[in-house]
Amino acid sequence: MAKLKVAVLISGGGSNLQALIDLCAQDDAPAEIVRVISNVDGVYGLERAQQAGIKTMVIDHKKYDGREAFEDAIHQVLDSENIQLVCLAGFMRLLTDGFVQKWRDRLINIHPALLPSFKGLHTHERAIEAGVKFHGATVHYVRPAMDEGPIIVQAAVPVLPSDTPDELAARVLEQEHQIYPLALKLIAQRKVRVSGEKVLYNGVACLPESVINPVG
Ligand code: GAR
Repeated sequence: MAKLKVAVLISGGGSNLQALIDLCAQDDAPAEIVRVISNVDGVYGLERAQQAGIKTMVIDHKKYDGREAFEDAIHQVLDSENIQLVCLAGFMRLLTDGFVQKWRDRLINIHPALLPSFKGLHTHERAIEAGVKFHGATVHYVRPAMDEGPIIVQAAVPVLPSDTPDELAARVLEQEHQIYPLALKLIAQRKVRVSGEKVLYNGVACLPESVINPVG
C-alpha cells in the first residue's frame, strides 16, 4: 500500500512533530511526512524537520491580510504536494470553517486534555483547579468548533495532589508522544473511519490498541 502523504502544521518546539517523524522513520511506516509548515519563524520544530530531511516552510499569518488569505497560502502548498492528511501539532491558530470543511476528515489535531473537557488554552491549570483526578490528551478529527470532532485516541494520566501545571503538562506530554503516532498509524493503515461523528476501527467501536491506559 502506498504511504499516506502527510503535512504537519506547527507553531513551536515540535515535540509531537518529533514523535510523528520517529514513526515515519520506521522501515515499515505507513505514512511519510512530506512537508512541515510553521506560522512562526525560527521555532525548534522547523529544525527538527530539517534534521530529518523534511521540506519546511514558514507561512507567517502576520504577513497576510486576514485568515482566509493566510489559509489559502497553506492550502495551496498542501494541494501542490498532494497531501492526504494534515496533522496539527501545537499549531496555535484557529482555522476558519472554510478551511476545516475543505479538509474534513483529512485534518487531525492533538489537544492536551480529555475532550470534551477543557477545550481551549491552559488546560493543565484548569484541570488542577477543577480538582479532576484524571487528565490527559486527545487526538481527534477537526471540526469547525474549537477542539471538537470525532475522537481517534485518548490517554489518561492521574492528577496528583502535589502537581504543578508544569508537572502535569510533562506527564500529559509523554502520553501525547504515544497517542499521536498511534493515531497517525491507524489512519495510514486505513483502519479508521468516521461514522456519525464517531470513529470506528475496521468497522468496530473499539480496538485494543486504541486504548492506552497508563494508569493501570
Ligand atoms: C502540545 O501539548 C499540544 O497538545 C498543544 O501544544 C503543545 C505543543 O507542543 N496543543 C494545543 O494546545 C492545541 N490547542 P509541541 O510543540 O512540543 O508538540
